[in-house]
This record gives sequence, C-alpha cells and structure tokens, in this order.
Amino acid sequence: MREKLGEIRRLALESTDAISDLRELENLRIKFLGKKGELTKVLRDMGKLSPDERPIIGGIANDIRKEIEEKIATIKETLVQEAKRAKLEKEKIDITISTNNEKLGHRHPLLSTIDELEDLFMSMGFTVISGPEIETVANNFDALNSPENHPSRDLSDTFYLNEDLVLRTHTSPVQIRAMKEMGAPLRIISAGRTFRFDDVDDTHSPMFHQLEGLVVDENVSMANLIHTLDIFIKELFGKDMKTRYRPHHFPFTEPSAEVDVSCFKCRGEGCQACNYTGWSMELLGCGMVHPQVLENCGIDSEKYTGFAFGMGIDRITMVKYGINDIRLLFENDNRFLEQF
Ligand code: PHE
Repeated sequence: MREKLGEIRRLALESTDAISDLRELENLRIKFLGKKGELTKVLRDMGKLSPDERPIIGGIANDIRKEIEEKIATIKETLVQEAKRAKLEKEKIDITISTNNEKLGHRHPLLSTIDELEDLFMSMGFTVISGPEIETVANNFDALNSPENHPSRDLSDTFYLNEDLVLRTHTSPVQIRAMKEMGAPLRIISAGRTFRFDDVDDTHSPMFHQLEGLVVDENVSMANLIHTLDIFIKELFGKDMKTRYRPHHFPFTEPSAEVDVSCFKCRGEGCQACNYTGWSMELLGCGMVHPQVLENCGIDSEKYTGFAFGMGIDRITMVKYGINDIRLLFENDNRFLEQF
C-alpha cells in the first residue's frame, strides 16, 4: 500500500507540472483527490490493514493529500495571475497614439477681453468680484437711486421675473452688494452678463456684457476717476489714445459723464469710421457715486466719496478685434471663432 500511495503521489505531482489551464487542473484534482479519486480508492482498502499499520498508512495518505492540494493551489494561483495578465495585455489602450486630428480649442474672444481687463485692473489694485445675473429690483434700481418712473424700469426695457426680481440690466447692482458686504474703503471691479429688452441688430443684443468698477475711500475725487480711466484706456488700446468726458446723467452718480475714446481706426486723425470727428463715442459711463447711494449701503457719505464706471465688454471686444456684428460673438460659429 505504501508503494501504491508513493506511486499516486509521484503521478499526481508530475502531471500537475504539465497543466496549462484551469479546467485541466480541476479535472486532475478530481482524478486524484475526488470522491472517486485514486487516493480515496486506496484508502478504501485501509480496512484490510492491521490495526498497527492503519494510523501509519493513514498519516502518510494525509500528508500526500496535503502535498498534492498545495501543489494544485500554487499552480492555480499562477494560472489565475497569468490569465489576468493576458486579459490586461489584450485590452491595453495606447493613449499615446496620434490620431492626427486633435483640435485644441481656445478662449472665446469675449472671455479673452474680460481676462485682459481684469488683469489690468488687478494690476491697479482692484479686487475682482462677481454678482448674480438674477437681481432684486431693490439692488438693480432702488438702491441705485433710480426713480420709480425711470424709463429703464419699464416692462418694455427690463426682463422682469416677477415684481421683485429682474435679469440685471447692468452690473451696477454689484456696487450695492459690494458696499453692503464690505463697506468702505473699497476698490472692486465686476464683469458679467447683463440683459435688456433690445431687438437684435449689428450692435444690439438682449444679452450683453458689462464691466463695472467702484472705488470708495476718503478724499476720492473726479480727478482720480479721470486719471484711472485714462491709464486704463492707454494700457488697453495704446499710449496715443485720448479720452474725452461729456456731461451725462445717471441716477446713481453725480456728476456723471460719458467717455469717448480716440477713434480706433484713425486714432484721432478723423476718418469715415468716426465721421471725421476723431472720436469713438460712448465707450464708458462714469461718475462720482451719489451720496444717497453710499447712504443706502450704510456708508457715511460725509466721510467717504467714491467713483464708479461701467463699460460694454462686447463693444470693446468688437473694436479690439475689428468685429462689425455683435451677433458673431454669440452664434458660436467655429468658422468665426477659429480666427482668434
Ligand atoms: N450702469 C450704467 C449703464 O449701464 C453704466 C455706469 C456704471 C455709469 C457706473 C456710471 C457708473 O449704462
């Protein structure tokens, strides 16, 4: 019986070496260790042994079973790992492969302008903040001193969501938010979308973009305002560009002005584009913050003064890039956008 067991051990260990697949391995396990397997068959004859021999042979049989089991387990583990590796190898994706048609996008010209404006004002010490596009009537009109009967409040000019909420008609309500939240002194700009009930044409769109600036501090004067905007325009468009301030009216600034800038085409010489005036008209609105607006936001108007300005970013983008139709900015036609 010892010889028989030794023979089974030898055979089992040898044949496992030749195995290369999991199913074969399982068959082999059944063949040697299964209920009707070789080892079991031998052990069934244990009854024929003498009582002294039984435990000895039983011990040997158990050791052999253990040895074969361990060998099978090791081979199984190797086969499983190999199968996994083969699967990964087969499913490998080469992410370095070139497709020859990769297209890298770039910023929309409008966003490039906003970036440039923000960088410029940040270099002048302004903090960039933002406000919501859905604004309260209180912030968009009331706190900005705009009278109850002001034409801009009309339903035909403003998108009302309900009695108290509008799509903001300008970025000026961000002034109100900033002053209420941060108090004085203050130096902020804020760019974003604005909305007015305009019909679409070459220069009008019901959705457009503005940039707002606000400075509040002690002894802030109109001279500071003019100096700041002059530097800004020269930095943005070139040192030879001039500004011109025409008296205007805004409910939230007093005095108020509209700002013209040297014509972008002839740079002041006079040409067809500027009707031979040398000026591009109404690039900015600005003025000294109305004391009532400061008070509305809890700022002491005896101690503090401020200036504010607002500009159309779409217009600036158009003159900067020589675009003659505002619709081009919003149609997202790649043939147009790819040019920038
Ligand atoms: N909010 C004004 C407009 O939309 C522009 C402006 C801003 C004027 C700040 C003065 C000061 O026309």
